[in-house]
Order: sequence, then structure tokens, then C-alpha cells
Amino acid sequence: MSIAPARTATTLDRSELLARYHDVRRTTERLCLPLSVEDHVIQATPDVSPTKWHLAHVTWFFETFLLEPHLEGYTPRHPAYRVLFNSYYNGVGPQFSRPDRGHLSRPTVAEIRAYRAWVDDGMTALLGRGEVPRLAALAPLLELGLNHEQQHQELILTDIKYNLAVNPLHPAYHAVVPPAGTATRRLGWQRYAGGLHPIGYDGDDFAFDNESPRHTVYLRPFRLADRLVTNGEYLEFIDAGGYRTAPLWLSEGWRVVQERGWRAPLYWEEHGGGWQSQTLSGFLPLDPHAPVVHVSYFEADAYARWRGLRLPTEPEWEHAAAGVPVTGHFQERGVFHPLAAAGDADGLAQLFGDAWEWTQSAYAPYPGYRAAPGAIGEYNGKFMVNQLVLRGGSCVSPQSHLRASYRNFFPPDARWQFSGIRLADDA
Ligand SMILES: [Fe+2]
Repeated sequence: MSIAPARTATTLDRSELLARYHDVRRTTERLCLPLSVEDHVIQATPDVSPTKWHLAHVTWFFETFLLEPHLEGYTPRHPAYRVLFNSYYNGVGPQFSRPDRGHLSRPTVAEIRAYRAWVDDGMTALLGRGEVPRLAALAPLLELGLNHEQQHQELILTDIKYNLAVNPLHPAYHAVVPPAGTATRRLGWQRYAGGLHPIGYDGDDFAFDNESPRHTVYLRPFRLADRLVTNGEYLEFIDAGGYRTAPLWLSEGWRVVQERGWRAPLYWEEHGGGWQSQTLSGFLPLDPHAPVVHVSYFEADAYARWRGLRLPTEPEWEHAAAGVPVTGHFQERGVFHPLAAAGDADGLAQLFGDAWEWTQSAYAPYPGYRAAPGAIGEYNGKFMVNQLVLRGGSCVSPQSHLRASYRNFFPPDARWQFSGIRLADDA
């Protein structure tokens, strides 16, 4: 997050800030409407969090970093929430054990909704009454809080997908049926010249601190597939024995495949010779034209190797994405499942939205990166080890949250995000 420059000082619009705050908060709550109270509470694996924890944690962020230090006379809703809903900020204090979040029936979902309303009242007071110069100084922190809540909107959906998928009843999150693809778009390639190219964020709007400083990288000539890998194509890898062929895999990936018995992406099940997968719309036949998702880095890398190709690096991806409009299939469409690429239109299809695209780049600081001082500096910087970068956003990412320089990151064995594959190669 670029917190330092208060660039909004001259353009501050109090009603715009309030409207944006309430819009993001209401969107989060809308995503929870299809869920029962019981759905809000479960945590089927330590990687995911209960929905009600997400609802409370994003609220805690505003309370801790904006209301407590900056709203005179503000009283925290409950003293224990400081620990219960602190995710990983050592600078704030101790945290309740992450794997045990699903063990808590209290505070209840109703109490957490009341907590949200309490903090919304506080934020309305802060943004409505605060003096303009003070608000201008706080605007970057507010923007961080809103982008943080948008990240958790995506996690609410990916986590509830996992929590519902472990249930043999195959419950659906919602009744929307993803439109089935009718054909697989012919795979084409976009070619890019090598040379020195800038990457990283250097604009006047919000960006996370891990996207800067903007810097120059050297690229060899390369080519990038003009759409994502489909389920049908990935099935060819499975049918060819990809999961049983050690030379295709990184050593650590092969170990994970053996230990966890992987033979297909997460959520895939074979029934009567056909494949089905758990989606947020319930258990559905696999659409061969839609992008493959819920693959780990290890699977994406092995698939690319099997095709005699490779995954893009993040500088390659960002260079290709520079200037491409951030349009595509995002959370706003309300489908929450990736869709087949349309037609044979020119250019890169599905670059933004549909599925996060694994890159082969380690998540590391850009040259000159410095985390912000204090607890807020823990947001990104301390995770820059043992993870890989994903680009482009997914069908559950809010469109306004994405840009070409956006860096997502997960460990190489993570599969519960909407993570997919775009192939690359040397030109
Ligand atoms: Fe968070």
C-alpha cells in the first residue's frame, strides 16, 4: 500500500469517501446473504477462515488503525476483539490461534453484525465530522482499509467454497448457474520484443506497497498464450498420466503429489467415467471449455513442462498487461466461476478476471522496497519468502481492486484460490 503520499489532500470529497466506504461494506454483507448462520461459523481447514471471522477482522482493521487513534472519544466495541480479530499484526499485539477460529461459537454472527454497525457508526462520524486536512492525511489509510476489505471479499467466497465442498451433501452457495462454454477458443500467441522495460506502480491512485518502486527489468523476447488453459486441455495431461510421471514435476511438487494423493485439481471428482467439480453453484459437470482452476503452482508448472512450455515470469506478465484495460469476468458479474474465453477476438483473453495466473516468479521485494514503519508495515513485507506471485485477478475479485501491477502471492502447494494457468515461452 502506498501510504506515504497524501495525494488526495487537494481533491478530498467527504461525501465521496463516505459513499465509497459504505459501498465496500455493503458489498461484503451482500456476499453473505446466501449463507445460513451455521455456514458463517465453520472452518474446514486451517488455511480458510470462517465467514464471520472475515466479517469481524475487516471491521477490526478500521477500528484499530483508524478509529482508535483518530476518532476522539471512540470506545472499542469489546476489549477481547483486539486479540480475537487480529490476523497477524505483532505490532498490535497477540493474536488468537488461526487454526482455531472455527472453534468459536461466540461472539455470535448477530454480535459480529452489531460490531460492524458500531464501527460503521464510528467511521461515519470520523469521515463526516473530521477536519478536511486531517481526513486528507487519513485518506490513504482509509483506502488501504477498503482494499483490505475487498481482499477479504474474495477470501469469503474462496473459503466458503472450501467449507461447503467438504460436505457430502454438495451444498451450493447460490442458485446462479454458470453459462456453459460452447467451444474452445483456438490457442494463439502474442509476441513481445526483449529489452529494458519498466514494471511496478508509479501512479497517483492507490496501490499496495509491494507494487513499487517502479524499476527497469531486462526481458528476453517472449510469447504469451492468448487465453488460459482449459479444463479439457488439463484433462489431456491427466489422461496422459501427468500425475504419475515424476520427471514432469519439481521435487517438492512430486513429494506433495505423493503425500496428498493428488490426481486432479482440487474439487474435481470422477463419477462413472466423467468428471464433475464442486463449484459455488453446487456439484456440476466439468466444462471442458472453461479455464482450469484450483491448481497449485506445482501442477501449473508440471502442466507447462508436459506441453514443452513454461509459465510466464511476473515482469513478462506485467509488460504484456501494461495498457490493457482492466476488463473481464470479475466478482461484479455474480457468477463466481470462471467462464470459457469468447470467440477469436484479437489480443489477450482472460488477462484480468476469471482466474489468477501463476507466474514462475518468487514473491520478493522490488529493488528499493521499504515496508512502512509500525504495525501497518506488516501488511505485505513480512510475507516475502516461500511464495509465488499470481497475476490478473479472478472471477471473485472486485474489478475496482485490480490493476496491471497488482501482485497476489500464495505458497506453491495452495489450491483453494481460483488459480489457473497461462502458458508462455521464449520467442
Ligand atoms: Fe486481513
